[in-house]
Amino acid sequence: MVGKTIKDLKEMSQTEMIEYLDETVRPEEGSIPAYILGDANVYDLEHKKLFLKTWLFIGHESEIPNKNDYMLRDLGGYSVIITRSADGVIRGFYNMCTHRGMKLCRADKGNKSSFTCPYHGFNFKNNGDLVGVPLQKDIYGTDLDKSTLGLHKVRIESYKGLLFGTWNEDAEPLTEFLGDFKWYLDILVGRAEMEVVGPPQRFIIHSNWKVGADNFVGDSYHTMVTHGSIVKLGMVPSATYSKKGYQIHTENGHGLNLGTPNPDFAFPEELIPEYKSNLSEEQFDVLSNLKNMIGNIFPNISFLISHTKVKDKLISNTTMRMWRPVGVDKMEVISWFLVEKNASQDWKNRSRDSYILTFSPSGIFEQDDTEVFTDITAAASGPMPYMKELTYNYTMGMHREPVKDFAGPGVVYDDKFSEANQRNFYRYWLDLMKA
Ligand code: FES
Ligand code: FE
Repeated sequence: MVGKTIKDLKEMSQTEMIEYLDETVRPEEGSIPAYILGDANVYDLEHKKLFLKTWLFIGHESEIPNKNDYMLRDLGGYSVIITRSADGVIRGFYNMCTHRGMKLCRADKGNKSSFTCPYHGFNFKNNGDLVGVPLQKDIYGTDLDKSTLGLHKVRIESYKGLLFGTWNEDAEPLTEFLGDFKWYLDILVGRAEMEVVGPPQRFIIHSNWKVGADNFVGDSYHTMVTHGSIVKLGMVPSATYSKKGYQIHTENGHGLNLGTPNPDFAFPEELIPEYKSNLSEEQFDVLSNLKNMIGNIFPNISFLISHTKVKDKLISNTTMRMWRPVGVDKMEVISWFLVEKNASQDWKNRSRDSYILTFSPSGIFEQDDTEVFTDITAAASGPMPYMKELTYNYTMGMHREPVKDFAGPGVVYDDKFSEANQRNFYRYWLDLMKA
């Protein structure tokens, strides 16, 4: 079937399209076709096969720290209410009134023990129970059984404060989905008690979501050029600064790059006992030498620990960002800034400055990257990717063998300039598209 034109693709049945993907997406050969970043039918299939099937990030527990706090989140394109009710339990509900389907909650965030529907006034407790119906006795008599009209629960689970949800009742438990990758997430968000500062920042990029995921899962190669200005400004010592370290991937498409070594410890030193009590010796060793850590939890939640000098001291910042698809060539980036809860206020402020200077929407790195993401997507969206079967080259590092002596799990390469992680990402992407 190879050789289909753009017209053929539009006319394909789902089965034919999956067959075509299987023939043309060849991660093991380092070959990925350009059309998968620009084709609307592929995007629609992704929604069904990925975003309605797998675990998706929805936020951090610290965003709703108090009883009766709630927040609205998007789960695969649909609104869910995440509540912390009086019993302290965090729950997720489909944001739909069970009477006639009105969107029950319309504010992004707040604190309330119950939600009143703006259509007819049904009132639901934040544990999902329907507790009030206007004029109930008068208009329903004794016939209405409120216990059958509670809000529809959404499956959510958390790991080290990270909240995930899924529409798939048969999905494996979150801890299995994250698998070996948890070892690295422990360093990212389990090293200390972490908290999200402020609401996440949001901005739109005219890019297919996979460009962001691909970039964060393993592309340290671009930093020499895309972010070359930081060398010119003297912020890092050399263009190959980002090459040293490890590239690591695990099952289910997850991957990260670990930059090491770091001459300075860029974390609050007074928290070393807390780090040591939360991490294994090997994990603490990684943290102690960490220059940066950039990765992606499949499919679309990326994370980053980077650092920069703030008031003459090297200060790390930790962020998570979701590449939320809102169209084949558009995504909303939702960017959370996390910090050690027990750090001093001064350190927290500096860490926030460090984030703003680097990877906030106005950060020097963020602005560099978004230009690239937009242009890649624009080129992938034209007729040429079909006419000539254009492919991207993902062969970097195929000649290299993983190392065996690294302390953490997964497939580990002792140099960050490789595309093994992207091949692993697209392998799992294809597996799910075919499933
Ligand atoms: Fe909510 Fe009627 S739709 S009360
Ligand atoms: Fe970048």
